[in-house]
Amino acid sequence: MTTTPVLASTREELRAWRAQRPGRVAFVPTMGALHDGHASLMRTARKHADTVVVSVFVNPLQFAEGEDLDRYPRTLEADLEVCAAEGVDVVFAPSVEEVYPHGVRNQQGVTVDPGHLATILDGASRPGHFTGVLTVVAKLFGLVQPDVAVFGEKDYQQLALITRMAADLCLPVEVVGAPTVREDDGLAMSSRNRYLDPDQRRAAVALSRALRAAQERASYGVPAARWAAMSVLRAEPAVELDYLALTSPDLGEAPETGEGRILVAARVGTTRLIDNMQIFFDHLPQAGTPTGGSTTTERSS
Ligand code: PAF
Repeated sequence: MTTTPVLASTREELRAWRAQRPGRVAFVPTMGALHDGHASLMRTARKHADTVVVSVFVNPLQFAEGEDLDRYPRTLEADLEVCAAEGVDVVFAPSVEEVYPHGVRNQQGVTVDPGHLATILDGASRPGHFTGVLTVVAKLFGLVQPDVAVFGEKDYQQLALITRMAADLCLPVEVVGAPTVREDDGLAMSSRNRYLDPDQRRAAVALSRALRAAQERASYGVPAARWAAMSVLRAEPAVELDYLALTSPDLGEAPETGEGRILVAARVGTTRLIDNMQIFFDHLPQAGTPTGGSTTTERSS
């Protein structure tokens, strides 16, 4: 279904449109540079409501100094085409001033404290990142007033934190996670993949191969799964590991048996990539099972 979405770029325009749409609204917040992964979030959103809103906003507050804020791809025309092809009703594409009228890092401004979960994994490498994410998502929820909001599982820690924010702050929105969409060779789709040159693109597939290798060994327990993933990552010199973590589904300690999560972050060239998968642990006996120590997170030094 191709329709031309309404384009709102100010709070006023969005408010005026929202007042005319009393029914259920599903919301997909994005930073643009839309790809098939985003299109699948829009399709999930459509299953939850008659009206689908997508925001396209590169949020400066979630980028630290020296990160890729300036070079982050801004492709609004192409994004509108993706939204049109998915039958999106409204695209909210505000300016920075519209979202942060008193300045992005305004000392008097109120931000959302994401708590302890934001200090581990990506939060350990990107201090302040999740404060920026939760603050802008809270603002966007306030502006769009959705009934349902859809986020990709690819940003698993982000999804966990937004789910927790909605629950802890009693926000009247249902947060829905949608599965990661992958390229044919397994690489998780990401707007940042377009930074990769052909050699880096080939190397980047090591992340998903490492996670799959861990899944295959997980019936022998957590250390065996970690060892399998690390073997794949170490064999690819272009991949500079940030962390490999095996956890419970809610990012706590990995269970000895049952469902868990495996997450990886690494730099390929100057591009930081993340990926994660569900994993099921067991501890079948195995000759020479490697022992992995007591921690479940491996970080590069
Ligand atoms: O996942 C993203 O694209 C961003 O972090 C989000 C949720 C749109 C907030 O800026």
